[in-house]
Amino acid sequence: MDQSADQDTDLLIIGSGIAGLTLALSVNEIRPDISIILVTKNKIEEANTKYAQGGISSVISKIDSFASHIEDTLVAGAGLCRKEVVEVFIKEGPKTVDQLIKWGVNFDKTADNQIELGREGGHHERRVAHVKDYTGLAIQEVLIAEIHRRDSIIILENRIAIDLVNVQDQIAGAYIFNNNTKEVCNFSAKITVIATGGAGKVFRYTSNPDIASGDGIAMAYRAGARIANMEFIQFHPSILYNTELQRFLITEAIRGEGAILTSIDGRRFMENIHELKELAPRDIVSRAIDAEIKKTGVDHVLLDISFKDKEYVKRRFPAIYSTLLEQGIDITKEPIPIVPAAHYTIGGIKSATNGVTNLKGLLAIGEASCTGLHGANRLASNSLLEGSVMARKAANYIMKNIDQFKYHKFKKWISGDAVEPDEAVIITHNWAELRRLMWNYVGIVRTTKRLLRAKRRIEVLREEVLNYYWDFHVTKDIIELRNVVEVADLIVTSALARKESRGAHYTSDFPEKSDENHDTFILKNTGPHYSEIF
Ligand code: FAD
Ligand code: SIN
Repeated sequence: MDQSADQDTDLLIIGSGIAGLTLALSVNEIRPDISIILVTKNKIEEANTKYAQGGISSVISKIDSFASHIEDTLVAGAGLCRKEVVEVFIKEGPKTVDQLIKWGVNFDKTADNQIELGREGGHHERRVAHVKDYTGLAIQEVLIAEIHRRDSIIILENRIAIDLVNVQDQIAGAYIFNNNTKEVCNFSAKITVIATGGAGKVFRYTSNPDIASGDGIAMAYRAGARIANMEFIQFHPSILYNTELQRFLITEAIRGEGAILTSIDGRRFMENIHELKELAPRDIVSRAIDAEIKKTGVDHVLLDISFKDKEYVKRRFPAIYSTLLEQGIDITKEPIPIVPAAHYTIGGIKSATNGVTNLKGLLAIGEASCTGLHGANRLASNSLLEGSVMARKAANYIMKNIDQFKYHKFKKWISGDAVEPDEAVIITHNWAELRRLMWNYVGIVRTTKRLLRAKRRIEVLREEVLNYYWDFHVTKDIIELRNVVEVADLIVTSALARKESRGAHYTSDFPEKSDENHDTFILKNTGPHYSEIF
């Protein structure tokens, strides 16, 4: 194919994490006649999925039950999960793990050849299937190898979706920027699927890789999709503290194996906070660490597993052991300095469990979506499950319905002039400013005053970005900056609309949960509201 030309395809998938790859494979397995183009903005392997450590949660152990996994998910979700949605996902767990094994994922096994199960925050049972402490990488490699065996799936790397195109009330495809040739092409599709992941990069400190700029959520919002619950950003409790911006996650599974949290003078502080202590749901642990840091005036707390058997620690957490050793920390001998950081985008594009949105021809799956599975706070290791289950359900919907959809041609993208090098510096400054202000004003503990301050600054940034955007040539940086500003605004607007504290959203102006539990929806031009789906 001519890779710099416009394209027509039955199915356009944007994103190559667990959600996008599983969707392509699932459709192709049964309907190879459906043409598929999968675009991804970096190399195919680059995605949040690749960095997942802990694993995928599923009821596998004989002493576990669906009822218990459902209950843990509902409790972590702080009253905002949709129970019927939670049931769908949890009950699909064992099938999902089986499918991954069938494609070649080699989950760790016990001596008697059963899947070895880890435990993480908020789970009352061991139910996290894993491959050492690099489960995401192991899954990603298997899915990519399987994709490469299917000649008919076209994968285009270094392609960044800019905007969705709405023609006659149907999403007719997207404008795609080719980061090799710097051209923008029209990709027309009968069905377009957003599988673009989350938006951790909106915050200065995050566990997420650079791809996580919330592009899909921003694009969908601009196209008129309903966006839900964006105030709920999950902060992971344990990210390696160092002076670099790129922070490294220390899996919660390490606490599942007994690691304790202490202040820098060795005092355990989770004991009086929650009955599950270090394994309390994530929002509670992150807030406790934040409070400890503020109380003591130091920059971090400690996570300690050094009292466990050295050989066991090295075998169970080899990636963390070797990465930290390179940084001069031997986790078998000393505690790890950690801080919380932005980790998971709980809200997103309002979708049914099969990805269907309020826009005809547009599906959203994986972390970019918001189905009601996570409520106000995601239970650990429920998101690889989410991506995989949604992808298979979306595949069923697509295979049944795609023949009813038509192609629509649309106008070519009009680009501005080339950006001046000194202006490019301003783009970098805008990026840094936005991420800093989101960290400082829209972080783990919020206030209305700080949120309003953030809102005003975002408005100024938005104006500047739009000027650059329309006046200058499209670049990767400017596409992403436009999106992080959009997503930051969605987060702040939703946070201001929620006059209570619940799950991952905590404001000291309204420290209690309110009696009503409602979702926050934002629809372009109508602002936030609390209505029901579709
Ligand atoms: P991603 O895997 O993020 O994939 C998104 C894809 O979209 C990428 O390929 C990206 O390049 C592409 N993309 C984005 N924008 C565009 C664009 N404009 N144009 C084209 N392509 C685009 N979850 C668990 O369940 N268990 C865990 O143990 C776990 N550990 C984690 C550890 C870390 C460090 C991180 C960051 C996350 C972890 N998570 C974990 C969360 C989980 O990894 C993600 O929620 C999940 O992988 C998201 O999958 P996805 O397919 O929706 O998105
Ligand atoms: C971790 O391994 O701690 C991350 C798990 C998750 O985000 O679900």
